[in-house]
Parts: sequence; structure tokens; C-alpha cells
Amino acid sequence: MLESHVNSEIKIVAGRSNPDIALKIARATHRELSEVAIRNFSDGEIWVKYEENVRGVDLYIVQSTIAPSDNLLELLMLIDAAKRASARRITAVIPYFGYARQDRKDQPRVAITAKLIANLLVEAGANRVITMDLHTPQLQGFFDIPLDHLYASSVSVNILKQVGLQNVAVAAPDVGGVKMARAYAKMLGDADLVVVDKRRPKHNVAQVMNIIGEVQGKNIVIVDDLIDTGSTFVQCVEALKKQGAEQIIGVCTHPVFSGAAVEKLVNCEALAKLFVTDTIPLRKQHDKIEVMSVAPLFAEAIIRTHENQSISSLFDANQG
Ligand code: R5P
Repeated sequence: MLESHVNSEIKIVAGRSNPDIALKIARATHRELSEVAIRNFSDGEIWVKYEENVRGVDLYIVQSTIAPSDNLLELLMLIDAAKRASARRITAVIPYFGYARQDRKDQPRVAITAKLIANLLVEAGANRVITMDLHTPQLQGFFDIPLDHLYASSVSVNILKQVGLQNVAVAAPDVGGVKMARAYAKMLGDADLVVVDKRRPKHNVAQVMNIIGEVQGKNIVIVDDLIDTGSTFVQCVEALKKQGAEQIIGVCTHPVFSGAAVEKLVNCEALAKLFVTDTIPLRKQHDKIEVMSVAPLFAEAIIRTHENQSISSLFDANQG
């Protein structure tokens, strides 16, 4: 039976992986973050405790599962503690869902971490999940609980429209990104689509093989769900420039930015600007990298979830 949570109180708490977005989300719902204590024993073992009553509460735990994997464990512990403290409903709000890249058995004897983590969240006691731009949207099917999938494009397309580029083509930096690029192209007024055919000879190494689509003289917007080492993105920018692209702008939802990614991106002369969101705290600031906050979108999703309203109607564009 569908239970109503409208009459229960909303509380929002934050893990330690991205306190800034958690605070912004809470403020956008006109609330403060609820008190939770999170500490480490001297060997690193994590300890969590709700510092206020959560019995009967509609609880939203905000935590991006960015590396280190302690962030994931911390989220699982916050869910477990809430379940044992009799929260009425527990929603894991995961702005960046890490470990999602390993989503299939692409070679023998490997783990499917996206499914493993979905199982762990459910086993810990999560009743639902709100997340954004999963590595592949079909990961939703790995969850046997409701999952609401938000799109950063709801925010970024407006910003791109303000930039006012003409003669635009949207580029997917690999075949897996075509669906996302197509959605952006549609929202930007049926812009052209370009696909960069990338190979991965080994982890974190990208090689551009072919470019499919018209690039000469176009202003290009490259869109990707995440940038890790920056190798895919920079190679894509350079390959498009070589093919005669005019201005090149990047949009990426999750700035994972490991190693020297920021340096690689800001030193890439052909890249004019990169827009990222605040699902992951930015490791280094730079004029070329602009952060768009998606906190209001998460806040709206929380309020609508609490009031049993539609979330899909948050999006005016068809992302399918
Ligand atoms: C690939 O499927 C993803 O969408 C990203 O393009 C990729 O994971 C980025 O990795 P890196 O920045 O290390 O090349």
C-alpha cells in the first residue's frame, strides 16, 4: 500500500563528502541541516550518530559516493543508524553516484559494482534514491526500490542558451554519451549531433578513432556525464579543433577530476569554457571552469517526493 509521508516531518542530513551541496539543498527547502555527528576512530573506522530525534521522520541523507570508498560506507552507516532510530522513510540523496562505471561484465571475472552498491543501499535500509545523471540511465533497473533520476541539463541548457552560441553542434565524446548529447541537441533547438568514436586500450587511457558528423565551422558543445582524468575530454576537444571546429565549450555533470585533470583541462587552449555542477566539490578553482549549482533541483525533488507529487514533471524536455 502506498504510504503517505506528507504528515511526517522532513529532515535533511549531510555526510561529509559534499557538505556544501547538502547545505544549499537544505536552505533551498527553507530548512537547516539536521544534526548528525560523524567521526573517525584513530585507525580511520567511521562512527555516526544522529544528534536529534529522527523517529517517524521523512529523512533525506545527502552524500555523493565519490572516492574514497569511505564516503559510500559513511552513507550506508547513516542509513543503518536512521533505520535503527525508526525514521519513517529513508531517502539516499546521491548527487554523484560513484562506482557506476562498472555496470556490466565487459570482460571475464570482473565485479558489477553498480549493482553491488544498489544492493548495499537497499540492504542498509534505504527506501528510495534520488540521484543525477547516472553513468547510464538503465542503472535505475538495478534498484528494487524507487529511484528518481534528475538531469543536470535542466540547469545547464538555460546557461548554454545565455551564452548565445550560433551554428551549434553538440558532441558526445564517446558512443555511450550519444543519448545525453542528443537530448542536449534537442533542447538547444535541434542542434546538430557529432559523435567522437573513442577506444580505451586500458583504464583511464582514451584514444580518439573517428569523428562522425559535421564539425567544420561549427561551435561545439561537448557534453559528458563525468570527467575523471580529463583524457577523454581533452582528446575530444583537440580532435574536434583539428577537424575545423570554431569555439568549443564543455558541459560535464560530475567533475571527478582525479590526478592532473584540472591542469589538463585549463591548459587545453582549444577549450574556451567548461561548465560543471556541484555534485562533487571542485578540487581547484579556475576562471575557465564555472560551477552551476544543481541544489535547487534536488531541493525541489525532495519537496515533491515528500508531497507525493510527480518528479518527472520537473523536466520540461524529453530526455528519453
Ligand atoms: C565514459 O564513458 C565517461 O562518460 C567519461 O567520458 C569518462 O569516464 C571520462 O574519463 P576520463 O576523464 O578519465 O577520460
